[in-house]
Amino acid sequence: MLNTRAPALELRLLTKAFGSLVACDHINMTLHAGEILALLGENGSGKTTLMNMIAGLYRPDSGDIFVRGIKADIHSPSDARKHGIGMIHQHFKLVDVFTARQNIQLGAGRDMSDRALNEKVRALGERFGLTARLDQKVYDMSVGQKQTVEIIKALCRGADILILDEPTAVLTPQESDRLFDILRRMKADGAAIIIITHKLGEVMALSDRVAILRGGRNVGEALTSKTNAAELTEKMVGQKVDLSIARPAMKQTPLFSMRNVSVRSADGVLRLDRVSFDIAGGEILGVAGIAGSGQKQLCECIAGLEPICGGEILFKGKNIAGQSPRQIYDIGVRLGFIPEDRLGMGLVGAMDVTDNLLLREYRLQPGFFIKRGPVRERARDLIKRLSVAPPDPSRPVGQLSGGNLQKVLLGRELLSKPELLITSYVVRGLDVHSSYVIYDLLNDCKLMGVGALFVGEDLDVLLELCDRVLVLCGGQITGLVNAKTATREQIGLMMVGQSG
Ligand SMILES: Nc1ncnc2c1ncn2[C@@H]1O[C@H](COP(=O)(O)OP(=O)(O)O)[C@@H](O)[C@H]1O
Ligand SMILES: [Mg+2]
Repeated sequence: MLNTRAPALELRLLTKAFGSLVACDHINMTLHAGEILALLGENGSGKTTLMNMIAGLYRPDSGDIFVRGIKADIHSPSDARKHGIGMIHQHFKLVDVFTARQNIQLGAGRDMSDRALNEKVRALGERFGLTARLDQKVYDMSVGQKQTVEIIKALCRGADILILDEPTAVLTPQESDRLFDILRRMKADGAAIIIITHKLGEVMALSDRVAILRGGRNVGEALTSKTNAAELTEKMVGQKVDLSIARPAMKQTPLFSMRNVSVRSADGVLRLDRVSFDIAGGEILGVAGIAGSGQKQLCECIAGLEPICGGEILFKGKNIAGQSPRQIYDIGVRLGFIPEDRLGMGLVGAMDVTDNLLLREYRLQPGFFIKRGPVRERARDLIKRLSVAPPDPSRPVGQLSGGNLQKVLLGRELLSKPELLITSYVVRGLDVHSSYVIYDLLNDCKLMGVGALFVGEDLDVLLELCDRVLVLCGGQITGLVNAKTATREQIGLMMVGQSG
């Protein structure tokens, strides 16, 4: 019997353990049609696990899921689909070599003709502002475009309960705005939406209600209009958190310079155009810019991962352009890159935290035998400092949640005695608390005389954390400002190529 008054979705005492670790512990939650619920919680608090149970990827150990007032037996993703539940995962599940059309048809269950699909997608475009080029191959798409295809796919399968797991972690601010516009229109149309995000600004701007998980338990719910960022953070962490970033003053020593460096990509496009700047030891130099303005090439050419076609890269006065990544690592240049596919780069999923640290250490320790004892100690330290959850050095890193993986990856580089640290979007996907731990760690490095390049997307953080901010636009430097005196507006103008 259809009960229109009942919530779109209701979770009762939902529980799921992995071995001795209880990821979700008797969680209750409701979601109404025409509502956007933000699900908040630190990395590892159980958000993805909870959503995966609703989407049929995990079977709950106990507890019930009700859809529109009726108990739903969800044993597989196709069961979830039949109940109108669609999930947009953190890591997209599209087939790369297929076109958007093929991916959507693959998911439609029954045959959907090209014509029917064209019509459907046109209608979705009109209703919600979703647009996709159906004959484009997925591997040619930007992250934002892939996400749009995922959403279209879910809607074509008839989803009216939509779950999005950290959808904005990989989007530019402009793409996020577009997504929110789409979600607001879907909500107005009666959809029930759960969104997981760490960005409290997004929570405040988009959601109607907030639910907070801590350590696998639901520790609170609030109407968005009746709460604020500080209160939400406190509930999430379980204690008051100081949301300000220190900027210790430092004596700076000459360390690194770029002189007229240019980089051309394989397709001949000039990605960096005669870029010159210095980073002193004891300085954090921020890099601002719209995504794709040359940030990637800048980081990669310093690391020896991308050849330059002109200019000099000087580390302590010596030109290191043309050296191998290994040589550049050996002189003390470390990368805190957080790649989109975290497991693809630098971490081995099946190995535990200690062994992943050893991957770096074994090249640094002299002699034949690898001393595991001291490394395990450092793994324990790292886990504690970064509050990696669960705090277990022998857990395979493949079982850590995304944000925790990221902390291990960066922590490993920070522990390996850098002199110059190149970081790019290091707090993407990290919860508020962890982000501040990372800022503290960067300041610790600074106090030890390390020079740091900090490529970021949050202008407030760039202005608070860095000593100076360099602005890139179309591969050129359009500004280099003192972070203490510059404003967001000034930097914003420089990002689009107009000097403030
Ligand atoms: N497949 C799995 N096997 C073992 N442990 C897991 C698995 N998936 C998640 N976990 C653990 O469950 C806890 C919750 O993880 P997750 O739901 O991914 O957190 P969140 O999405 O809030 O960051 C974490 O401690 C994580 O390490
Ligand atoms: Mg997660």
